Amino acid sequence: MTILATRHLLTLADVSAAEVQRVFSITEDLKTKFGQGLREALLPGRVLTLLFEKQSLRTRVSFEAGMAHLGGSSMLLGDDAGFGKRESMADFSRVLSEMVDVVVIRAKKHLTVTEFAKYSACPVINGLTDFAHPCQALADLYTMREHFGNLEGLQLAWVGDGNNVARSLVEACGHLGVKIAVCTPKGYEFEPDFISSAKKTFPKLDIELTSDPRAAVRGANAIYTDVWASMGQESESEKRKREFADYQVNAKLMSLAPKDAIFLHCLPAKRGEEVTDEVIDSAQSAVVAQAANRMHVQKGILVWLLAAKA
Ligand code: CP
Ligand code: NVA
Repeated sequence: MTILATRHLLTLADVSAAEVQRVFSITEDLKTKFGQGLREALLPGRVLTLLFEKQSLRTRVSFEAGMAHLGGSSMLLGDDAGFGKRESMADFSRVLSEMVDVVVIRAKKHLTVTEFAKYSACPVINGLTDFAHPCQALADLYTMREHFGNLEGLQLAWVGDGNNVARSLVEACGHLGVKIAVCTPKGYEFEPDFISSAKKTFPKLDIELTSDPRAAVRGANAIYTDVWASMGQESESEKRKREFADYQVNAKLMSLAPKDAIFLHCLPAKRGEEVTDEVIDSAQSAVVAQAANRMHVQKGILVWLLAAKA
């Protein structure tokens, strides 16, 4: 088995559109087989390590279960490994990456994963930082492709904070030619640098920036939201609740979108804040399928990164 030379997935700017399609095609194949009760051991003996500076259910379990299905193993390094505390990042990364085949990191600061990757001899995957959540956005676009049959001509509306998930969705849409409307309250928009660099990196990017949720959802095939205060922003919760009050995805807002539009959320959700029970539990909601696809897409990512022959 050939290992690709230290490719990392820190943001979706690290991969090409063709590579995203390759991940989707591996995912589709493995998901079909999984549905038939087959778990192909494409990565026997390979070891995945996970480092989490923040809580996780979906990202951790999807990677661990996915690696087990592929015949590899995984280890979660807890506080006792001393990540970021006991030795330099360079030493930690150089040593760990000599012993394992791939590392997933969920870090408070994006700089932590870029620093780690700089010294790593094995691929590093961003499992969420304050800047990006690339694995999430891949699973989201995979979910839209699966639901609608293909991505051609689709529009996605983001209603909420201009956050990590939103940035990665912009990049995923830029790769795949999906139109995206990003609707944020004033003060919670993307940094101008992010938009200008995304437009350069993704020439196909078709993005509309607005502060009007009604304008964003009109014509959208998928309406997506996320918590108003991300992990690490808990102290801003009350202020954000006031400032995001007009940005709730509720039945009234959904009624402005086409009838066959789906509702997406990366989860965990704060029900009654960014989304009502009525919407997240509706027939239009695809959030459970979306979360389940995290595991299938992680398998696609792992096989793409580690098994060149697959
Ligand atoms: N969506 C997501 O990344 O969930 P977790 O925080 O549970 O991993
Ligand atoms: N924006 C959220 C996503 C959680 C999966 C956060 O960073 O907490």
